[in-house]
Amino acid sequence: MCGIVGYIGKENPKDILIEGLKKLEYRGYDSSGIALKNNEKVQVIKSTGKIKDLEIKMRNIKVIDSNIGIAHTRWATHGIANETNAHPHTVGKVTIVHNGIIENADKLREKLIKDGIKFNSETDTEVACALINKYYQNDPVEAINKALKEIIGSYAFGIIFEDINDKLYAVRKDSPLIIGVGKEGNYIASDIAAIIKYTEEYILLDDNEVVELSNDKVNVYQGNKLIDKKIEKSNLSIDEASKGSYKHFMLKEIMEEPMVLQRTLNKYLDNMEEIFDVSKYEEIHIVACGSAMYAGMIGRCLLEEKANIKCYVECASEYRYKKVIYDRKTLVILVSQSGETADTIAAMCKANEERIDTLAIVNVKTSTIAREAKHCLFIEAGPEIAVATTKAYLLQAAMFSLIALKAANVKGLEKNYNDVLNEAKNLPKKLKKILDDKEIFMNVAKDIKDCRDAFFIGRGVDYAICEEGSLKLKEVSYIHSDAYQAGELKHGTISLIEEGVPVFAIITDDKIKAKTESNVIEVESRHAKIFTITNDKTIKDHHFRYLVEKISDYFQPILVVPPLQLIGYYTADLRKLDIDKPRNLAKSVTVE
Ligand code: AGP
Repeated sequence: MCGIVGYIGKENPKDILIEGLKKLEYRGYDSSGIALKNNEKVQVIKSTGKIKDLEIKMRNIKVIDSNIGIAHTRWATHGIANETNAHPHTVGKVTIVHNGIIENADKLREKLIKDGIKFNSETDTEVACALINKYYQNDPVEAINKALKEIIGSYAFGIIFEDINDKLYAVRKDSPLIIGVGKEGNYIASDIAAIIKYTEEYILLDDNEVVELSNDKVNVYQGNKLIDKKIEKSNLSIDEASKGSYKHFMLKEIMEEPMVLQRTLNKYLDNMEEIFDVSKYEEIHIVACGSAMYAGMIGRCLLEEKANIKCYVECASEYRYKKVIYDRKTLVILVSQSGETADTIAAMCKANEERIDTLAIVNVKTSTIAREAKHCLFIEAGPEIAVATTKAYLLQAAMFSLIALKAANVKGLEKNYNDVLNEAKNLPKKLKKILDDKEIFMNVAKDIKDCRDAFFIGRGVDYAICEEGSLKLKEVSYIHSDAYQAGELKHGTISLIEEGVPVFAIITDDKIKAKTESNVIEVESRHAKIFTITNDKTIKDHHFRYLVEKISDYFQPILVVPPLQLIGYYTADLRKLDIDKPRNLAKSVTVE
């Protein structure tokens, strides 16, 4: 996934674009670049590393005054992270930035090389640039449309034409791009957070709609036909898109959890009719990636236990290619914070093509999944900038709680329905009290920060929580970590348990707590260091034990996960790592 921002207007684009790139750095940060245009020339400046490296480079050269600019921050897909492969790319009169992946790039490159094109980079983007340039005579929209006819894949392009001094162009397909409509000019951006400082008004582009921006006008074309588009208004606030007084976005977003949980519960608890009723389905496939999939695992436990509906959790990258046996009583639930994860989009398309009902649980309202799933439930997490998801994951789990509660009630299986609803109303307060114990979790981080491996064990829904706890720790602290069904450890992995290896035991399910406790003793007898999180004070404290309040099964994970998120965060902080932008990761993986 990469980040794109562009501007045309009365202001000098340079600072607008650099500020915008910083807001998009979570989308990719191995290299970046900027193209500035005035009536004489297009200047392209690129750098490997972070945005600040590009800024330093720009301070040491003469940067032209300009009124049009496009910029890009990259997460390398085609071609290693170096200056040559960094965007923008220029071929002939065309300069572009690109987010997405062109699947037939190699074939197109071969054809263009036969036409005499000499490529400098290994990127698919340069191929797209050459194709647009090939068709460009004097009509940019026509050139773009002709090139798109030959391109297979996903793209969001920002495009400058060297001999057009008062226009900026853009087009998208399967990759996010919004058009900011401002008073001092107009913008393109992968995410509204990049331009919210300048305008709250934006236009959503549908696939292959070409947009032509000038200082004071935005034209959108479908083919060569000018079409009308609705101007939306964002409710994002500027400080939501900034770190505020927090050291990292990840910590800010964990500490926002009570507030965003309150916001999401307020939206639904008194309007449970808003919650999609899944009770009529006989089988549910929950399809997602990473943390979203682990939230789905909590959902599966609740939907099966409480609503008596057969559920499968599938990793989207597998599901999209496997043989899936659907019937009319199947529901596919897609879970995605960004709503732009390529594999999850593909899984949604697979179900849509089979005319199977799809329900999306999404955070970003302007996203592809939000727009193309048959039904959609929005979590109200606000912008989540840190690559490691925390508040969005928690709200995804909470959304499953509400879905399972409603389905159980509709099926007459939940006799404590109103009590559970009332308990949910107090959840944010209970969560806040846990987050106030942050010192306790800092001390756990001090205890494990130099470990090479860590293990998380649990059964049932506790195992689902372990998967997320393990991912949180490893993706930001780079400590190798694995989650196991507690009963599975002795079938091999227990050979890795030795003196001092941290083992996190999650024990909240009364029905099987004794079993998990015996697994804890198995590893403790091999001198593991046991960190227990439980809602039962009879569970032994072997080394460290944190007690959370015992609440209904529906919402118990909401109190258990945040301690694990904080432990992951503080461990990474003690290891002085780039927590908001962990190596090799991107916020939403918009490529396969
Ligand atoms: C979680 O911390 C990771 N960043 C990753 O697993 C993420 O949850 C996954 O890529 C899915 O992203 P999505 O929710 O935007 O689809």
